[in-house]
Amino acid sequence: MKILHTVAELRAWREQQGHISFVPTMGNLHEGHLALVELAQQHAPVVIVSIFVNPLQFGAGEDYTRYPRTLADDVAKLSTLGVQAVFAPDVTELYPQPQRYHITPPDLANQLCGAYRPGHFVGVTTVVMKLFQLVQPHIAVFGQKDYQQLTLIRGMVADFAVPVKIIAGATIRAADGLALSSRNTFLSPDERQRAPLLYQQLSRIQQALQQGQRDYAQLENAATDTLQQHGWQVDYIRICDPQLNPADAQTQQWVALGAARLGATRLIDNLSI
Ligand code: PAF
Repeated sequence: MKILHTVAELRAWREQQGHISFVPTMGNLHEGHLALVELAQQHAPVVIVSIFVNPLQFGAGEDYTRYPRTLADDVAKLSTLGVQAVFAPDVTELYPQPQRYHITPPDLANQLCGAYRPGHFVGVTTVVMKLFQLVQPHIAVFGQKDYQQLTLIRGMVADFAVPVKIIAGATIRAADGLALSSRNTFLSPDERQRAPLLYQQLSRIQQALQQGQRDYAQLENAATDTLQQHGWQVDYIRICDPQLNPADAQTQQWVALGAARLGATRLIDNLSI
């Protein structure tokens, strides 16, 4: 497996490859990432994974500096899976000067997580566009756990006619339902035990919708109240259609999404119905 740290190394490697698929990550790889890599392997003979904690997508006071960086472990995991290359640039390699041009995503970027993380999706879409320019993949795989990110990247690829096919990987969960996330490592043992409550509340919404309930506000409020009663600070619980418009009487398919803080850790999750 090649470890590429510079753009020049990446370009030289890329020239020798044909059909490739790409899994962009911020590292600290867990089973969820590895499942995305396996999905990528089903779609192309050569897979490259990027590991880059992107400062552009972290706001002031967010966890950029303490975000777990575990490159040696990550490389070992990817090597075991038979990945062909890892692109792990420094910040100065990807941003040799402060980034002056940015993607301007649509208003969806200011809703849901975007309402609580101003500028986050500008940073995500900008780095993904830049990585697409560098890696030039045919296929790129993103996790469904970041449903809003996935939706915005699909929109960006469609609007800019980027020749990359986007594949979505299912959310991988621990046995108790907690969606795997690098941020789970921030949870204390007590918080880790309590963390599945977000998934449980989304599951209750899922069941209620399946049973024909359509009072979306009541379902959202009930889940919010339960989480708050258990000490969570809830950013939002929202029932949307698959494009992330608020669900209405015509909606036939739903996504229930939530973001909430347990102690200092912000967790997100969603379920499609
Ligand atoms: O989902 C992530 O890990 C990041 O947002 C991504 C897509 C790698 C961009 O930095």
